[in-house]
Amino acid sequence: MSNETARSNETILVLDFGGQYNQLIARRVRECHVYAEVHPYTMPVEEIRAMAPKGIIFTGGPNSVFGESALKYDPALFELGVPILGICYGAQLMAHALGGVVQTAETSEYGKTDVVIRDGYYGASAVNSAEGGSLLFKDVPKKSVVWMSHTDRIVQAPEGFVVTAETADCPVAAMEDAARGFYAVQFHPEVMHSQYGKHMLRSFVLDVCQCAGDWEMGSFVEKSIQAIREKVGDGKVLCALSGGVDSSVAAVLLSKAVGKQLTCVFVDQGLLRKDEGDQVEAVFGPDGPYDLNFVRANVQERFYEKLAGVEEPEQKRKIIGEEFIRVFEEEAKKIGAVDYLVQGTIYPDVIESGLGDSAVIKSHHNVGGLPDHVDFKEIIEPLRMLFKDEVRQAGLELGIPENLVFRQPFPGPGLAIRIIGEVTAEKVKMVQEADAIFREEVESYQDGRYAKTLGQYFAALTNMRSVGVMGDFRTYDYAVALRAVQTSDFMTAEAAQIPWEILMRVTTRIVNEVPHVSRVMYDCTTKPPATIEME
Ligand code: XMP
Repeated sequence: MSNETARSNETILVLDFGGQYNQLIARRVRECHVYAEVHPYTMPVEEIRAMAPKGIIFTGGPNSVFGESALKYDPALFELGVPILGICYGAQLMAHALGGVVQTAETSEYGKTDVVIRDGYYGASAVNSAEGGSLLFKDVPKKSVVWMSHTDRIVQAPEGFVVTAETADCPVAAMEDAARGFYAVQFHPEVMHSQYGKHMLRSFVLDVCQCAGDWEMGSFVEKSIQAIREKVGDGKVLCALSGGVDSSVAAVLLSKAVGKQLTCVFVDQGLLRKDEGDQVEAVFGPDGPYDLNFVRANVQERFYEKLAGVEEPEQKRKIIGEEFIRVFEEEAKKIGAVDYLVQGTIYPDVIESGLGDSAVIKSHHNVGGLPDHVDFKEIIEPLRMLFKDEVRQAGLELGIPENLVFRQPFPGPGLAIRIIGEVTAEKVKMVQEADAIFREEVESYQDGRYAKTLGQYFAALTNMRSVGVMGDFRTYDYAVALRAVQTSDFMTAEAAQIPWEILMRVTTRIVNEVPHVSRVMYDCTTKPPATIEME
């Protein structure tokens, strides 16, 4: 829903200075049931005042407080009367801005480091003592491991601050001016490797900023439904449903809000996994539990015709993206003028596109885009403030079946990018069957526990044919490649060390059960240099 709907809770503002962990900070805050938003550090101070955050966190970043690369921030930030926590670059900025001393060290410090909190500043008893202690470290022991990644360091705290922690290389690993609510840490509490990082962030938002911690997915869902109802009135809403998590959650949210005013168009382009089209129809179609209009466009042949003879991956993607839009437009035209178009945009997309200078989303990931010829007044993006795991949580709140909510990511161009070279109906069938076998075996191994350790696992069809022998006959058939990766962000990935037992069983089944496949290979490549998908 809109920022305003979400912000009716207390908000922590994460000001992004370009650090690689910016989203992680917001997620950690939300894990404390406090709503957090990420904005660029250039956000005007008047806007920040209007947002009325309960606290501000400065992220780390690649810049230095010195010279040309120093970022232009507004010093009025320090006059807002709002508690601030500076992390890494954010800590140095706070020191530099308020009169402390920052120096460039000869060597960068990177990795796990022991941090030692000064006596009197750690533990709950210190906070309750006459000297005051540090609220930030009230649940933290004297010595623990933290994650460091910096070259500059603070060597002298500004006036009014006390130094609360140090490491072997950092004389000021943490400092604070509790009276003004200013806290700074040179290390990264948001990173998992910082043993007590979560405790520190929780203390900042709950104790220093005094947030109530009442941000709940259930109430977010309720409020969103209410807000959608008010916005849409008796208007007509159109949603492109892929069966993926984001569009499914968006569709159910809309259907709960406006029922039959919503039409979901599901384009079955013949590039889905085995039985997937029927599974989507079973959930969202007329026999499913939801109150909405469902249109399934069975356009498999049309897509195969368009893809005939095309081998180049980018060209395949382009054809599929364009054709998808054309089908969607045709179906929309049949429905007539619609007022609102629903999109399943989620928060990482918003953050990435809003900043422009951090991680660039691969263009090929946005299959489709907006249709040109659909007449609608406005776009509704009900999930634009949620992270992926929160979208899943919202899905569960809405009663969407678990197998749909926890589906692994599936690319927009579908099996077309898991078939190397030309796509044909026969090849789609081969990869569908092989993939179904692989998924079935992975998911039944250790009662499903093993599958939960994998980020993605699937079969692809190479365009390699090789000689084999089956019974008394020579064969000249295709090779299937299996891929299973462990990843948390999908930007990097490790090939899973999948048990040999699974590989053997899957191999035997695929060569026996899938016609025209005579070899099975396992892809051991990491990303980078490879990507997760084959094309
Ligand atoms: P790669 O292959 O780039 O994939 O390592 C990273 C993640 O993105 C998914 N992916 C796509 N998703 N449209 C999508 O919607 C695409 O064109 C596309 N290509 C890759 C991939 O499945 C993995 O989760």
